[in-house]
Amino acid sequence: DADVFTYDPGFTSTAATDSAITYIDGDKGELLYRGYPIEQLADKSHYLEVCYLLLYGELPNAQEMEQFETTVTRHTMVHEQMHYFFRGFRRDAHPMATMVGVVGAMSAFYHDSTDISDPWQREVAAIRMVAKMPTVAAMAYKYSIGQPFVYPKNSLDYAGNFLHMCFAVPCEDYVVDPILSKAMDRIMMLHADHEQNASTSTVRLAGSSGANPFACIAAGIACLWGPAHGGANQACLEMLREIGTVDRIPEFIARAKDKNDPFRLMGFGHRVYKNFDPRAKVMKESADEVLDLLGIHNNETLKVAKELEKIALEDEYFVSKKLYPNVDFYSGIILEAMGFPTSMFTPIFALSRTVGWISQWKEMLGDPTQKIGRPRQRYIGAPARDYVEVPNR
Ligand code: SDX
Repeated sequence: DADVFTYDPGFTSTAATDSAITYIDGDKGELLYRGYPIEQLADKSHYLEVCYLLLYGELPNAQEMEQFETTVTRHTMVHEQMHYFFRGFRRDAHPMATMVGVVGAMSAFYHDSTDISDPWQREVAAIRMVAKMPTVAAMAYKYSIGQPFVYPKNSLDYAGNFLHMCFAVPCEDYVVDPILSKAMDRIMMLHADHEQNASTSTVRLAGSSGANPFACIAAGIACLWGPAHGGANQACLEMLREIGTVDRIPEFIARAKDKNDPFRLMGFGHRVYKNFDPRAKVMKESADEVLDLLGIHNNETLKVAKELEKIALEDEYFVSKKLYPNVDFYSGIILEAMGFPTSMFTPIFALSRTVGWISQWKEMLGDPTQKIGRPRQRYIGAPARDYVEVPNR
C-alpha cells in the first residue's frame, strides 16, 4: 500500500472566530444575546427589539426603538419586479428553494447596498434583510399554495405582518390573532442567533470573500435547509406524525440506537448543548400555552412529543449520549397549530435567523483586520507520483 502522505499544516484550524454577539455554554444550557439571557428576552422583549440588540449591541431606548421600527417598516416591500422570480419555480417547489433563489437574486435589485467596503451600504443591507425576509418568506408560501401575494401592512407589528402576509386573502378581512402573533414573535426571538452554527459560519465564510450580502444570506439559507440543521423542525414533526401514537415510540427509540439504521430522533441532540437547549424549554412552555389558547387539547402529536421526550430523558443510551430535545423539537408543533404546513417551518427559521446572520456578517466586515476564510485540511490522498500513459495503466 502506498504510504498515506500526510500534510501537517503546522497549525490548528483557524475556524474559530471572535464575536461579541451571542454566547452559549453547552454544559450549563446557557444562551445570551449580547449578554442578556434568552429566557428573560423571550419573556420581556420582542423580536424587533432583539434585532436592534443583536445589530447594535445594546437594548434601545424608546426613541431608538421607534426610529428603528419606522426604518424597518419602511423597507418591508420588495421591488415589484421580484414577483416575476417566483413565477419561474414550479408550484410544488419547496419554499426554501424559492427563498434561496429569490434572496440570491436580490443583489440584482438593491445595487446601493452591495458594496461591502461602504459601512453605510452594509447598514442599509442589514436593514433591508431584516425588513424584507418575512415578505419573501410569505411570498414563497403564497406561491406554493397558489394564492396571490399579500403586501406588507405597516400598521401591524413584525410578527403580525408576517402572519397577515401568509394567511390574508384579498376576498376577506384577516384579523391577526394577538395570541398567534405573540407566539410567532417568541419563535422568532428563540431562533434569532446562535453563535457559529453551520449556516452562520457559511454566511461568514461567504462574506469573508467580499460577496454581496444577499448572496451571503442565500448561502446561509441553503445551509440551514439541511435536516441536521434548520431542516430538523420539518423532519421532527414528520417523524412525530410517522410515530403516530405513544405505543409506537419504543420502535423508534430502538431504531435511533441501531448503528446500522441511519434513523435519528429529529429534534434531539446538539453539537454544543450537552445538558439541555434553553430554547427548547421556552418553546415547550409556548407549545402548551398556544395549543391551550387555540383550544387544541387532545393534540396527539404533542402527546407523542412529550412521551418521547420523557422516555428519551430516562433512557440510558440517550442520557449517555447527552441527547436532549433541541430548539426544533417543539417548534413544529406550534407552527402546525398556527396553520403552517411543515414545508414552511424551515423558512420561518430562516427569516428568524436572518438578523443573526446579518449581524455577524456586519461584525466580521467591521473588523479591518479580517481576512478571507480559508479552512485547511489534513491530506490523506495519494503521495506525489508521475503521470502514467494510457497503455501502461
Ligand atoms: C440546529 O449548531 C447550532 O447551534 C444549530 C442550531 C442553531 O440554532 O443554529 O442549534 C439549530 O441545527 C439544532 C439541531 C437540529 N438537528 C436535529 O435535531 C437533527 C437530529 N440531531 C442530530 O442529527 C445530531 O444530534 C446533531 C446533528 C444535532 C448533532 O450531531 P452530532 O454532532 O453527531 O452529535 P453528537 O456528536 O453530539 O452525537 C453523539 C452521539 C453520536 O453517536 P456515536 O457516534 O457517539 O455512537 O449521539 C448520536 C450520534 O450518532 N446522536 C443521535 C442523535 N444525535 C446524535 N442518535 C440518535 N438521534 C439523534 N438525534
